[in-house]
Amino acid sequence: MRQSIDRTFTPAADAVDAALVPKRVLYTGAEMPAISLGTFGSDHVSAGEIAEAVKGAISVGYRHLDCAAVYGNEDRIGDALQELFSRGLRREELWVTSKLWNDKHAESDVIPACRQSLADLQLDYLDLYLVHWPFPNFHPPGCRVDSRSLDARPYLHENFMKTWRQMEALVDLGLVRHIGTSNMTIPKLTLLLRDARIRPAVNEMELHPHFQQPELFEFVRASGMEPAGYCPLGSPHRPERDRSPEDTVDMEDPVIVRIAQRLGVHPAAVCLRWAVQRGQTPIPQSANRRNYLANLRAVVSEALTADDMRAIAALDRNCRLVKGQVFLWKPEQSWQDLWDLNGVIAS
Ligand SMILES: NC(=O)c1ccc[n+]([C@@H]2O[C@H](COP(=O)([O-])OP(=O)(O)OC[C@H]3O[C@@H](n4cnc5c(N)ncnc54)[C@H](OP(=O)(O)O)[C@@H]3O)[C@@H](O)[C@H]2O)c1
Repeated sequence: MRQSIDRTFTPAADAVDAALVPKRVLYTGAEMPAISLGTFGSDHVSAGEIAEAVKGAISVGYRHLDCAAVYGNEDRIGDALQELFSRGLRREELWVTSKLWNDKHAESDVIPACRQSLADLQLDYLDLYLVHWPFPNFHPPGCRVDSRSLDARPYLHENFMKTWRQMEALVDLGLVRHIGTSNMTIPKLTLLLRDARIRPAVNEMELHPHFQQPELFEFVRASGMEPAGYCPLGSPHRPERDRSPEDTVDMEDPVIVRIAQRLGVHPAAVCLRWAVQRGQTPIPQSANRRNYLANLRAVVSEALTADDMRAIAALDRNCRLVKGQVFLWKPEQSWQDLWDLNGVIAS
């Protein structure tokens, strides 16, 4: 859109060279940077702070942003991007992802919702647009975990495909380059892959050392999709509603701490290096320059050893942090019902 073509973008003096950041090659041949900046403020980082972090992160070498309409800050991120474009950054240097929120699954809502994200972000196209959750179940921002939308319902493949056809139409219209999913399961993806005209390019899923989802991870890769991993650091400042007494803390795991001490880095760097080396695209969030710069440096730093990789693989504790209770559709259900744990889509 409105961007300068007569200036060259000057990165920060201590920036990581964006060309050195590993890339994932999607089935279209497009290259997606293998680390993304998270932009969900977890209810305590303001839209303004996230927008500042976007500017700072791009200045230090990030080229991939994980946005979503429901994060409530795309308009501020749009202003930040305009400022960067006026300083010579080119749109095609960036990979911008956004997501369709649950209350916009109706056929008539998908294209307008995407157009709204584009208007807020002040972009002509998105590199990737995801269906944020496979359910149309709406929850108001910051609601309690026992809150349920009145029309909450289970995953209905027929309905999901109506949403997906509109996602495909967005590609046809040139508004998005790729479409994908988030918070899916193997049974749901199996149906989607069977019926899609335009296949999902990416599945965004929770991934960190204590929650490695090995089966889904392998399924996603074997199906020609790239796994993008949210909460890569174990989301230490997640909202209260996403905390349970049984949750474990990745960055305090003695194995992670020991590797970090040996390398002289923060445990966050070990989680991210492991993620990129394993083959997922981590999405760390930080509004703190020292941290987001360290996170980017971690993915261009020396590889972990095969022993380190094996030791971290053995840490999986199946500890899901984002359980999704608010999307349940029956009062007596538990959060496990959202995740098709017995291989069958819950009804
Ligand atoms: N698709 C989905 O349904 C979905 C769900 C959840 C999240 N997401 C995406 O994933 C992103 C990340 O998730 P998340 O924020 O929950 O989890 P996270 O990235 O695992 O954790 C973020 C937290 O880690 C801290 N941190 C970051 N770098 C650090 C470092 N080097 N050292 C110490 N602490 C560090 C940050 O605090 P400081 O600000 O103090 O650095 C921040 O509070 C979100 O922003 C969003 O884009 C997607």
